[in-house]
Order: sequence, then structure tokens, then C-alpha cells
Amino acid sequence: MAAGFLLLGLLSATCIVTLASDHSPLQDFCVAVTKSPVMVNGLACKDPKLVQANDFFFSGLHLTRNTSNAVGSRVTPVTAAQLPGLNTLGISIARIDYAPWGINPPHTHPRASEILTVIDGSLQVGFVTSNPENHLITKVLEKGDVFVFPEGLVHFQRNMGSGNAVAIAALSSQNPGVITIANAVFGSNPSIPSDILAKAFQVDKNIVSQMQSKF
Ligand SMILES: *[C@@H]1O[C@H](CO)[C@@H](O)[C@H](O)[C@H]1NC(C)=O
Repeated sequence: MAAGFLLLGLLSATCIVTLASDHSPLQDFCVAVTKSPVMVNGLACKDPKLVQANDFFFSGLHLTRNTSNAVGSRVTPVTAAQLPGLNTLGISIARIDYAPWGINPPHTHPRASEILTVIDGSLQVGFVTSNPENHLITKVLEKGDVFVFPEGLVHFQRNMGSGNAVAIAALSSQNPGVITIANAVFGSNPSIPSDILAKAFQVDKNIVSQMQSKF
């Protein structure tokens, strides 16, 4: 009986993990037709006879991006939206530029694990395990170092140097999604009622209003 429950628990846990990730393709490829009115899980497929090399191609990740913004970083995503050949393949990539001491603020990808390689500079990276531990796992990375952020966990990076830093991140979804914690909590539209946030963060409502005004 107990073993049965255990098995059931394991099965349902497996099932949840499976549903949160991209499915395997059912054909060689399914190049996205971004303008198709057909709604499917992912994007509709272009006629395979009409695909070209450029459908599997993106250029520009060598370019330094502008990091003059409030956080001092810029993400250049290459997902199925930018590279149609990624549709149904369950992977994507991004370049992240960091100004000196710039951060990529705490965020999660609801559908992807992320493996990050430092191309230039030095980054402090970290992620936090789920409740009840909320354990911060953090490390300083140098050029050539690789670090993985497990699917769904809140993570961040900070440029540790006085020069620019660059990283390349690969993700286990064609459309990983991003939930930036501060923007979601304090910058939602319409706002989450301030008394809810005041209780959640254990601060005065006027502090909540101050936070909300920044986003
Ligand atoms: C970078 O972005 C800032 C803010 O949007 C802008 O003022 C500045 O001109 C940009 N710099 C370059 C080199 O494009």
C-alpha cells in the first residue's frame, strides 16, 4: 500500500516535470510560421519543402549591446521568435551584456534550465532553492567558466569588474519565458493590492507604494 502511494507520488512528480518542459519533436523540424493564424502549442510549421538555410540561422550575437539602463545589463534572446527553426526543438540561446557592476536582476524561466558560459569578464551568479530552505547557491565565475541554473529557480548575475562582461546562456526551451521578480511583484498591471504586498514583505504600505512607483 505504502509502496503504491510512493509509486503514485513518483509518477505524478515525473508528470509535473514533463509537462513543464518542451515536448519532443514529431518530425525532423517544424520551422515556425510566425504569422500563421493557426493556434498550436508552439508555432505552426512552414511547408518542409520550402525551408531554407536561413530558417535555421540567426546573426548578431557577436555584437556588444547597449547596457545604459536601470540595471546595467541587456539580454539578446535567440528563441523561436527570432530563429524560426527552433520551433519544437526545446532549446534556445541568449547573449547577456553587463555594464561594470551591472546586474541581471533576480528572475526565473518558467519552462527552462539555463547553462551560462562567461565569454568576457567576471560574474557573480546565484540561485535560490525552493521553500522551506531558500538556500542561496552562489559563485564567482571567470572567463570560460560554466554554471547551471535549474529550471524554475530564481537566479541572478552581477558583473564583478570595472570593465564590461559578456555571457552566453543556453536554455532548455524554444520559449523559456522570463519572470523578473521585482517587475512581476511591484510592477504588475493592474497592481497587486498594496496591503497584500505589505503583509507578504512585512513592510509598511507606503514602502510598497514607493516600490510600485519604480516599476
Ligand atoms: C544607449 O542607450 C541610452 C539610453 O537609451 C541612450 O541614451 C544612448 O544614446 C545609447 N547609446 C548608444 C551608443 O546607442
